[in-house]
Amino acid sequence: MENQPNHNTVTAFVIFGVTGDLANRKLVPAIYQLMLDSRLPQPLYLIGFARRDWDDQAMRDHLKAGLRDFARTRPLRDDILEKLLENMRYVRAAFDDGDGYRRLGALLDELQAGNRLLYLASPPEWYPQIIEHIGAAGLANCPQGWTRIVVEKPYGTDLQSARALDTQVHQVFAEDQVYRIDHYLGKETVQNILVFRFANGIFEPLWNRRIVDHVQITVAETVGVGSRAGYYEKAGVVRDIFQNHILQLLTLTAMEAPVAFHADAVRDEKVKILRSLRPMKGEAALANTYRGQYVSGSIDGKRVPGYKDEPGVAPDSTTETYLAARLYVDNWRWAGVPFYVRSGKRLPSRLTEIAIYFKQVPLPLFGWRNLAGDAPNRLIINVQPDEGITLTFGAKAPGPINQIEPVKMHFDYVETFREEPPEAYERLLLDSLAGDATLFTRTDEVQAAWAFTTDIIEAWKSQPVRYLPVYEAGTWGPQGVDEFMQRDGGRAWHNPPG
Ligand code: BG6
Repeated sequence: MENQPNHNTVTAFVIFGVTGDLANRKLVPAIYQLMLDSRLPQPLYLIGFARRDWDDQAMRDHLKAGLRDFARTRPLRDDILEKLLENMRYVRAAFDDGDGYRRLGALLDELQAGNRLLYLASPPEWYPQIIEHIGAAGLANCPQGWTRIVVEKPYGTDLQSARALDTQVHQVFAEDQVYRIDHYLGKETVQNILVFRFANGIFEPLWNRRIVDHVQITVAETVGVGSRAGYYEKAGVVRDIFQNHILQLLTLTAMEAPVAFHADAVRDEKVKILRSLRPMKGEAALANTYRGQYVSGSIDGKRVPGYKDEPGVAPDSTTETYLAARLYVDNWRWAGVPFYVRSGKRLPSRLTEIAIYFKQVPLPLFGWRNLAGDAPNRLIINVQPDEGITLTFGAKAPGPINQIEPVKMHFDYVETFREEPPEAYERLLLDSLAGDATLFTRTDEVQAAWAFTTDIIEAWKSQPVRYLPVYEAGTWGPQGVDEFMQRDGGRAWHNPPG
């Protein structure tokens, strides 16, 4: 993958919505880290565009305070900080104010910024207007260099709105200028799924319906909805995590080897998986999904409120904060292998993992006490927080008693590489500056993910419920989800101790 940005031209990184949380917590800390690692093109100007009554200095002060809290490497290095702050500029304008975009254009010209990375970090309802104004102000193409647009999630709220947004985007930008973010793809261990599968000869022959019994994908969070009820009430887990992060993890786990490690070759294979998902319409969606909502409970020994007690949540809300689903990838490699996926807020631990369960031996040979369980062979890719990969198998325990116990072969990321994995946004910003779109979702990919997800949402809508099953905060979801899994031949969720 090409990672060295073009160093010859002045680059501008323009953040629409620079006053928001994303810029403060993620984007600017990522830029700081990349500067610290000498990975950025120079000079690089960071231009903020927002409504708030700030000037250059106010933007610098705000982001400097943010860096003190959120930079990955602290204490901050004064020389790097100064360089970053010095090259910050602020354009104060409402997103629908054409004059603001003209001022932005004049500033870009004055700075002679030929390479332009435009980043939509505003509330999503503004995306269409911002894009239109960028086009009208002639900022979508710069003859002296490249112009790219990075679009944060949510990219639409269903298939129809995602298509509409794509149409608007394509009126102004060519597809190869568009970088749609799913920050999970920037996580080091998510990228390692492909390396693990395709840089090693020994796993791939096992990765199919003959050897694999089923796959579990978990994205568990301990946090609740916090102050985001306004967004979350309309989104639920299905839009917040399932349509994007979970389906991305599934495509990387299930896809065929690409013909090359290039953006389009990789994305071609991912799209094929999304299109192979067995559609979940109507009854099929109801039978293969299980929703829940958290009620008050305790996390890390602390009492936390239930979803309906969170500020901004309707007292009769039926928004799901937990979702489990049984999916099938109907292709030759995976026919008949269930992919159980789940995600929830207020679960006992923060954990993202992919667990591959292998089939049993054809005949049980040992009449021994088997503490390893029926199918002890399990491979777990831990995406976070304890990044690593663990293979579990049965071994004979020492001693005269014939006993099989589960044992582990374990790769630990931090122990091996002696450093914490970088922040996802570091990689994603670097790649968008370098013009490498491999880790960004292409138009057909987003639409295929929405087509699949929209069927589920429609099915739920067609049979509204008054209450969802509940689960206490700090537990692994509503009780029924164990049965949901158990019914499939006695399978069980992998619930690590909280
Ligand atoms: C975001 C969701 O996309 O991902 C949040 O909107 C969620 O609700 C977050 O908390 C989880 O990301 P991470 O990187 O903390 O696993």
